[in-house]
Amino acid sequence: MTIDNMTKSKALWQKILILLLVPLLVGIVWLATVFTSNKPVDYADIVDQFKYGSLGSEIASGIPYWIWRVMPEVFADKLPGQAPGIQPSYSNLGFIQEPEKKLPIGFSERQVIINRVGLNCATCHAGTFRTSAAAQPQVVAAMPSNVVNLQGYIDFISAVVVDPRFSPDRMMAAINRASGGLNPLESLIYRYVAIPQTRDVLIQQGAKLSFLHGQPQWGPGRVDTFNPYKSIQFNFPMDKLDPKELIGTADFPAVWNQKPRAGLQLHWDGDNSSVDERNKSASLGAGVTPTTIDLPRVQRVADWLWELQPPKYPLAINPELATQGQALFQQSCASCHAFGSEKVGTVTTIDEIQTDPARLDSYTYELNSNQNTLFAGTPDRFTHFRKTNGYANHPLDGLWLRAPYLHNGSVPTIRDLLEPADRRPPTFYRGNDVLDPQKLGFVSNLAVDNSHKYFLYDTKLPGNHNTGHSYGIDLPSDDKDAIVEYLKTL
Ligand code: HEC
Ligand code: HEC
Repeated sequence: MTIDNMTKSKALWQKILILLLVPLLVGIVWLATVFTSNKPVDYADIVDQFKYGSLGSEIASGIPYWIWRVMPEVFADKLPGQAPGIQPSYSNLGFIQEPEKKLPIGFSERQVIINRVGLNCATCHAGTFRTSAAAQPQVVAAMPSNVVNLQGYIDFISAVVVDPRFSPDRMMAAINRASGGLNPLESLIYRYVAIPQTRDVLIQQGAKLSFLHGQPQWGPGRVDTFNPYKSIQFNFPMDKLDPKELIGTADFPAVWNQKPRAGLQLHWDGDNSSVDERNKSASLGAGVTPTTIDLPRVQRVADWLWELQPPKYPLAINPELATQGQALFQQSCASCHAFGSEKVGTVTTIDEIQTDPARLDSYTYELNSNQNTLFAGTPDRFTHFRKTNGYANHPLDGLWLRAPYLHNGSVPTIRDLLEPADRRPPTFYRGNDVLDPQKLGFVSNLAVDNSHKYFLYDTKLPGNHNTGHSYGIDLPSDDKDAIVEYLKTL
């Protein structure tokens, strides 16, 4: 062999090696990126970030996107209110689907090997209103999620995973139809990992939440704040707990304008005086864990909520009547409810306030001591949770979007709240977002409109009582109307 030929064959071998090695290396790098990826979908616009951005909940409790996407169609029979001829979707559960958006409000996306869907603040803190039954719903971020049926969602995902149709064959067929075909690697991951794993995780979660079946239905706009925590985060044996603490159903609150709330004892029972801890604790409710919480993204949302103002009441206000009402409010209400007043953000004892005690009783000393172990050993450890003996005096800003009223959402309108308990509606309908300008709240006397069924709330059920808060109830009717008018301006 000549020197020339030897050089040539060496060069050839080098070429072959490069041709083999480069794709191999690229493949390894690609697989490594896929398997170690943790990429949240972000939004430049902060309102979109609030509605659709990630808090990290996808990592521990997310549902792989394509499974989540096809569930309503495969299990349409398990969705409440599914009418024939209508595309089954999460809208059946009250989730708000904006045009052109991939996910309904309150759902976020993050790639952890594959794309997963999780919950965020807007699941519970974004709602809609209509100025009349014929008007378009308007979405308001940071108001209570008045139309969202979260228990319906929990029940739905718990029911589908024990259904024989939740099998790799059946699910892959639906996924391939919806996606137009996954790539080969994703197909393998879905068939052999994602589908069986999701089934196992959700079956376990369903078992942990089975105690919820012992509670009256939440209906739209409510959640049990602390009992799911006891079971999921801390493995409390729910069947051994005092039945008195097992119903903690609470109305979703509004979360705008946090700055003047700094240092106030809030949550419905005033159990925490730190805005920061209330935000972090809330993220746990969305399904993050102390190790998966995405603190920078929670902070981005928290910074925005700090000064966010509630929208103004959109209908006419009678200015004279409102001024009259303002004076009456000063006399009877402001000491507990006005920003800067002496008692705002403190707790009125249950003996005095006499509203339903269930939510208060659901927050126990035992839960409190367990909560203090979360984030242990880090600067994020909770230090502000306290067991209280009543309910907090909340500021009333943006009140017109916060109906039904009281911590359990048991009184449909402000005008009803100003009546003695035995003259408040014993039953009413929740989930309607049409404003009631006379009584201030949402329309609550319709069982159905446009084929949409509303939820019947029964104040006789445990945790649902509409008693107590006997302020202003002896005022003349005209004065009550004046207070209603004034409260529209907040
Ligand atoms: C699963 C539903 C849910 C999610 C998700 C959720 N929250 Fe909440 N949030 C609630 C409920 C219910 C309360 C009232 C708790 C109580 O006292 O019972 C609350 C209370 C709060 C409060 C205190 C309000 C007050 O004035 O008392 C703040 C602040 C808050 N949430 C912020 C957030 C933020 C920020 C996020 C996202 C990081 C979030 N929440 C996610 C349901 C939720
Ligand atoms: C002594 C303190 C105190 C006074 C005075 C008082 N309230 Fe309250 N208010 C409370 C407490 C405590 C709650 C929470 C009770 C609960 O949710 O169980 C509350 C709740 C409310 C709510 C419900 C807020 C929401 O987001 O659902 C409204 C509305 C309200 N009060 C209006 C008034 C009006 C109007 C007056 C005067 C006629 C008044 N309050 C007088 C302590 C007071």
